[in-house]
Amino acid sequence: MIGIIGGTGIYEIVEMGEEIETKVIETPYGKSPEISVFKLHDKDVVFMPRHAKGHEYPPHMINYRANIYAMKQMGVERIIATNAVGSLEVSLKPGDFLVPHDFLDFTKVREFTFYDIKTVHIDITEPYCHDLRNKLISSSEVVENGVYVCTEGPRFETAAEIAMFKQLGGTVVGMTGIPEVILARELEICYASICMVSNYAASISGTKLTIEEVFEVVEQKKDDLVKLISDAIAKTPRERKCPCSYALAGAEIDEV
Ligand code: HPA
Repeated sequence: MIGIIGGTGIYEIVEMGEEIETKVIETPYGKSPEISVFKLHDKDVVFMPRHAKGHEYPPHMINYRANIYAMKQMGVERIIATNAVGSLEVSLKPGDFLVPHDFLDFTKVREFTFYDIKTVHIDITEPYCHDLRNKLISSSEVVENGVYVCTEGPRFETAAEIAMFKQLGGTVVGMTGIPEVILARELEICYASICMVSNYAASISGTKLTIEEVFEVVEQKKDDLVKLISDAIAKTPRERKCPCSYALAGAEIDEV
């Protein structure tokens, strides 16, 4: 089973599928948003709108644990996530796509682990699944590497913050990629993200940031994004050969 976590505006992918069913999953962390289960390229696919219908939850209020746990309960082994991002580099323009290879975490108040009682130190040296990233990269004209900076939001960033993120090696900035990628690894699910640049980050373009420009770019590029994901799903083999499937090996402290 392949899971898609859709950010702003790619709900159209469901319409490409067959045998579409909708449901809400109950988890120990609360309910998932309404998900759609369908067949695409003869594979079982689950689509989850990250913000729920009508963009109900802002980034810092999303129940990330319920969302990822629901994916696990559905039997999802790989997650392709989409994230709208601001670009820290002039050469990376609104409308471009990027598949990050690493992240910097500047979130503040999110539930970021499933292991609050048991001690588990998961290895996250390479946080995004190498094999799944390759399926997204080979699909079309996308930037193959980049560091995703996650802020808490819901506000955009200050000019000084953006200057700092650039100095630290950040490429794009968004509000939703963390803790999803971490929680997926904790449940041994492969995770890769396709980021859509919706704007230049604060101070890079010199103009005021508005949510309208973010939605405008997403609207223009959503067909390309849907195709990219659909192509990646077509190319994804059934069996996993990557280390994500045994991420917990060597991560748990043995009982003493
Ligand atoms: N900053 C943070 N999150 C975002 C941005 C941004 O510029 N654009 C889209 N999501």
